This record gives sequence, structure tokens and C-alpha cells, in this order.
Amino acid sequence: MTPALVNPGRRLLVIGGGYTGLRLAQAAQRRGMAVQLTSREPRQDTHGLVWLPFNSASEPPALPPRQALQGTTDVVVCVPPEAGLGDPVLRLLGPILQELPLQWLGYLSTTGVYGDTGGAWVDETGTTAPRPGRSQDRLEAEQAWLASGLPVQLFRLPAIYGPGRSPFEALESGRSRLIHKPGQVFSRVHVDDIVGCLLHCQALSPEQRPTVVNVVDDCPCPSSETLGYAAHLLNHKLPAMERYDTIAAAMSPMARSFWAENRRASNGLLRHTVGYTLRYPSYREGYRACLAEERGGGGQSPRSPGSTT
Ligand SMILES: NC(=O)c1ccc[n+]([C@@H]2O[C@H](COP(=O)([O-])OP(=O)(O)OC[C@H]3O[C@@H](n4cnc5c(N)ncnc54)[C@H](OP(=O)(O)O)[C@@H]3O)[C@@H](O)[C@H]2O)c1
Repeated sequence: MTPALVNPGRRLLVIGGGYTGLRLAQAAQRRGMAVQLTSREPRQDTHGLVWLPFNSASEPPALPPRQALQGTTDVVVCVPPEAGLGDPVLRLLGPILQELPLQWLGYLSTTGVYGDTGGAWVDETGTTAPRPGRSQDRLEAEQAWLASGLPVQLFRLPAIYGPGRSPFEALESGRSRLIHKPGQVFSRVHVDDIVGCLLHCQALSPEQRPTVVNVVDDCPCPSSETLGYAAHLLNHKLPAMERYDTIAAAMSPMARSFWAENRRASNGLLRHTVGYTLRYPSYREGYRACLAEERGGGGQSPRSPGSTT
């Protein structure tokens, strides 16, 4: 079904056309928006998407030409903060953004800003208690965006999955690990629900938009449960169960930090106040859709045109 042209007059700039950014850009373009997106590498314009340079780490930084951004009404920032250096988008593009006729700026953050809740539910009113490092940098980036005076809305995301970021390939190639840590759960969201939520919020009036929204599904649960369901869908055997406390010391610091936090992020605000209906309320519908898209012939890599919103 062709999506409704809800925002034909809007001009969207996606800063960071990576996994989520590209999927968003494709969906927005299908809805009739003019869309530009940035990359660190030169890229060919395709399917009506216009690529601009942005690289904060090159010397000198690569910036999109000022002229190309004229008339931009909406921005979504998908670039993470730089360790100890703050938010590169705000630092390098903030003055240009201030000159644009912006109606809305979505900033993709993480539920990591809540820190460890010991498995308890946490909503947007919950205390932020990030671990030092990436999550602390993220909270500081959120605060800097909110202080910018721009029409910022923060979206706190859990683990993102979707076509090309699903468990199937690792299961089949024997790289999956079935790890058990008693009581541990993770929250997650399908990339197309991030895209759907962003487009939904963009279309709302400013007074209808909460400043901070958790974009998570209904079903925080152990990773052993989701891997079990993926194996069931593939009719593939599971790897042997490993106990977290026997393997933690050999894990990378990044993996250990992932397992060190246990929380259930709530989506009550998203569903009841924002009024967004999740397309994939749990990993069960989400994994089935990933498998269909990955194996469906038109199989989607993260860089290929999306077919859903
Ligand atoms: N993945 C997750 O599970 C997860 C969970 C919670 C929050 N998040 C956050 O949500 C956002 C989107 O996630 P994602 O998984 O879609 O991210 P992604 O695929 O890694 O995309 C990140 C984008 O940022 C750009 N970028 C990175 N460093 C940059 C720099 N120094 N200068 C300019 N551009 C830079 C990348 O450019 P290139 O396209 O050139 O590579 C890419 O377009 C990110 O902020 C991420 O940290 C992700």
C-alpha cells in the first residue's frame, strides 16, 4: 500500500544516514518529503535521496555546504557523542541549524541514560543514573541539545534490531552465544518502529510532543528467550547454554557493560500519550518480519531501500 503523503511541504535532514537514519530517510521520501542525509564517505544519490558530507573526525571536519541546508524544516540526529568531546553535530553544525526554519529536531539517544534499575521498570520520569563513559556522554549530549534553544525532542532507544541486524545469520554460522544470567532482561525495538514513531511525532503539533520519549517494545525479556525464538523460526539448533558468571571475565569491556545493566524500559508514554501504535510489539512479530525481509528475495541490507515504515 502506498503511504499517505502526510508531509509534502517538509524538508528533512537526517544527520547520520546509518542503519536507522537511512531507513528513516527512505520512509520519509516515500511519504513525499524532500530528504537529505549525511555520510562520512562520498555516496551516490539514489531513489531521490540526496547525500551530503559530514565527518566530525576528519581534519578539517567535513561539513555539508550551507546552501544545501537552506529551507530544512526538520532534522533527525543519529550520530553518537564523541568520547569526552561532546556532541559533534551540535558543536560543528549548531550555528547553521540555528539559522534554519526548523519546526522539529529529533535526537536519537539511548535508554542507557537510566543506568541499571535492577530489572525494574523505568519511564521518562525516572532518575537518570548513567554509567561513566558512553552513557554519561549521552546524557550530557541530551542536556546540551535541550539547552540549544532548538525545537528538540529526545528519543531514548534500547537495542535496535531489524533486517540486516537480526540474530539469524549468526545462529546459522555458529557465532551466536546462548548466555544465561539469572533475572537479566533487555529491552529492544524494531528499526521500523523507530522510523514510524519519528514520522508520527514529526506530524504532531509542538504541544502534542513530549520532550523525552522511550521508543521500546512491550516485551523486555532475556536474550536466551529471543535467541530461542529465532532458532525456532529457523528450525536450527541452539548453541550450548553458558552461564554469565563463568564467561564474564573473558568478555570485552563493551559486552560486559551491556550485561551490567538490567532494566525494563516502559513505553506507556509512547503508546498512550504520543498515540503511536507499535507495528512490532514484541520480538516475535519483529523477528518474523526480519526473516521474511531478509529471505524474501528483495532481501534488505541496511544500505538498501526500505520497503516498510
Ligand atoms: N544500535 C543500537 O542498538 C542503539 C541503541 C541505542 C541507541 N543507539 C543510538 O541511536 C543512533 C542511531 O543508531 P544506529 O544503530 O542507526 O547507528 P549507526 O548505524 O551506527 O549510524 C550512526 C551514524 O552516525 C554517523 N557518524 C558516526 N560518527 C560520526 C562522526 N564522527 N562524524 C559524522 N558522522 C558520524 C555514521 O556515519 P556513516 O554513515 O558514515 O558511518 C552513521 O551514519 C546512534 O546515536 C546510536 O548510538 C543505537
